[in-house]
Amino acid sequence: MEKYKLIEFKEYGDDRGNLVVAEGSGKDIPFEIKRVFYISGSDSEVVRGKHANRKTQFVLINVAGSSDVLVDDGNNKEVIHLDKPRMALFLDTMVWKEMYNFSPDSVLMCLASEHYDESEYIRDYEEFVKETRA
Ligand code: TYD
Repeated sequence: MEKYKLIEFKEYGDDRGNLVVAEGSGKDIPFEIKRVFYISGSDSEVVRGKHANRKTQFVLINVAGSSDVLVDDGNNKEVIHLDKPRMALFLDTMVWKEMYNFSPDSVLMCLASEHYDESEYIRDYEEFVKETRA
């Protein structure tokens, strides 16, 4: 399985508006969702994230507005532009991520496979590179 990939959710839009569906436990989201958080009000100069996780997988969705996500698996770096509620970015464990270039209306929703545990976060880039090469 890839360390990161784009996922497109089903959309049931009609003349009443849009409806996007994301089902967990391997249907649309590759894991059982244990935690949801969302990031808003970060202006365009802010860089968030700057960490990798030893245990948690994530799915990121800009449910409103847009942002850029730098993903780095220790070998390759890529910037993904998120700007559609039906578009999601899956991040496996041990992927370094940085979120930035937030639009004023950006709401970045993050679905996580684990409960919050600071001890499984790697916040030092050198340590991340060391652990990916180990
Ligand atoms: P942080 O990881 O720095 O946010 P981001 O990766 O979006 O830049 O988290 C900011 C603060 O919020 C930090 O004190 C930890 C806390 N936090 C939780 O308690 N639970 C969570 O699920 C998350 C994501 C953060």
